[in-house]
Amino acid sequence: MSTELEIVRTVADLRARVAAWHARGETVAMVPTMGAIHEGHMSLVQQANRLAGHVVASIFVNPLQFGPNEDFAAYPRGKARDAALLAQAGAALLFTPNANEMYPEGFATKVHVAGITGGLCGATRPDHFDGVATVVTKLLLQCTPDIAIFGEKDYQQLLVIQRLVRDLNVPIEIVGGPIVREPDGLALSSRNAYLSAEERETAPLLHAAIQQASHELAAGLSAEQALESARAALEAAGFRVDYLEARDPETLAPLSGPVASARILVAAFLGKTRLIDNVPVPPQA
Ligand code: PAF
Repeated sequence: MSTELEIVRTVADLRARVAAWHARGETVAMVPTMGAIHEGHMSLVQQANRLAGHVVASIFVNPLQFGPNEDFAAYPRGKARDAALLAQAGAALLFTPNANEMYPEGFATKVHVAGITGGLCGATRPDHFDGVATVVTKLLLQCTPDIAIFGEKDYQQLLVIQRLVRDLNVPIEIVGGPIVREPDGLALSSRNAYLSAEERETAPLLHAAIQQASHELAAGLSAEQALESARAALEAAGFRVDYLEARDPETLAPLSGPVASARILVAAFLGKTRLIDNVPVPPQA
């Protein structure tokens, strides 16, 4: 599906378009992104189109969610290519604010979601989720869609956003979109572009290791045993594991021993590239 994509850069223009749709009784779904569009984002836009009458995508590389030594400057940017792919997936409107539109002079507010942001990515990226929560709150209030869709690859992020929307009574339904994978299992990510040819060969092992752990947990092995084997396999292949854990799928509370229902989440470096992935327990067929 390819539609005419209109691009707006200001909150006022975004609001005017969405208000006109709402005034006609039509529904709107939002897909926030940081650009570097791939098939994972496109599947979120397609999902959004099945759920609402119009899809608004946004592209904003949010400086607040990058740490001082992270890849904000290097993050892949290419708006013309991104816009073409979003149009192809069926987005009707693209919101691309600049930094001043998003964080004008004097901007002083931060959204902090406690608890669920504490471990996993929050442990090694201390300000990351404040940056995500702040920009997502702004994007939702700027657009006022009926639904917003976020990929399950960033599973902790999805739960953080669901929490903040519940806590702040934001009247928008947050929906998770399934992870899209390469044929060899590697989860699609804008950061896969950083991998060397050799690292790209090794990268699918990340998914293979947690999928194996999911099968082992479902078969009755303890979380400690299943995760220890997965960690050993990853380290033998050259990954530096940041975290590898079995967590409650709703609360992200740590789990140990035998567990029938869980989410296995991993972050690991291959060279300089940090990859994340997650799978459910029991595993999906
Ligand atoms: O997942 C992302 O691309 C970003 O974290 C998001 C949700 C667009 C906020 O900047």
